[in-house]
Amino acid sequence: MVAIGVLVSGSGTNLQSIIEAVEKGKLDASIKVVISNIADAFALERARKHGIPTAVIRVKDFPEREAYDAEVVRVLKEHGVELVALAGFMRIISRVLLDAYHMRIMNIHPSLLPSFPGLEVQKAALDYGVKFSGCTVHFVDGGLDSGPIIIQAVVPVKDEDTVESLSKRILAEEHRIYPQAIQLFSEGRLEVRGRRVFVRKSEAPSGTMENPRAATF
Ligand code: GRF
Repeated sequence: MVAIGVLVSGSGTNLQSIIEAVEKGKLDASIKVVISNIADAFALERARKHGIPTAVIRVKDFPEREAYDAEVVRVLKEHGVELVALAGFMRIISRVLLDAYHMRIMNIHPSLLPSFPGLEVQKAALDYGVKFSGCTVHFVDGGLDSGPIIIQAVVPVKDEDTVESLSKRILAEEHRIYPQAIQLFSEGRLEVRGRRVFVRKSEAPSGTMENPRAATF
């Protein structure tokens, strides 16, 4: 079981998918706290509805990014968080948070990285004319959407797609692979070697069948 903290800014559909995976017993994690930089983010409502502690940390209350992140780290530690999941958290994070949770911060991004980092990436993918897009769960390092890749899922781009229709197709995959990546972390199966993340085979305790949870996603 891994103790996670989820950082959000917006609607929180990825948070919802993590909550549901935990409640269905597919994800062996406990969501200790949901932190938002936006006071009225709908993601906070979702957390409260499921009895998950929330915290709002406002950007304007802190003189610089490092002080803001120090407060985020304080709240995460206070709740015993071991793994941080960025889920639509619209802020660049500093070394303060990166160093406190080295290779223990994940992010979900709606493109097949390293294509289309940054913002409005579904539009960028459409404009570029790619035939496939998708999403990426990666560990967070100091760069822009640049950390080691854990899982990617691919979706087709159709001729009739709009930003909305493509985003929706990608989002459905986000909701599938983010809990899956967290589950792999929870099982201690992710090994980072340089840029590459290797997924170890699941090790069932001797004398038992292989843990069926590993195959439920
Ligand atoms: C998702 O598209 C995610 O990939 C990106 O921000 C969006 C968050 O959506 N990082 P939601 O708040 O989880 O609905």
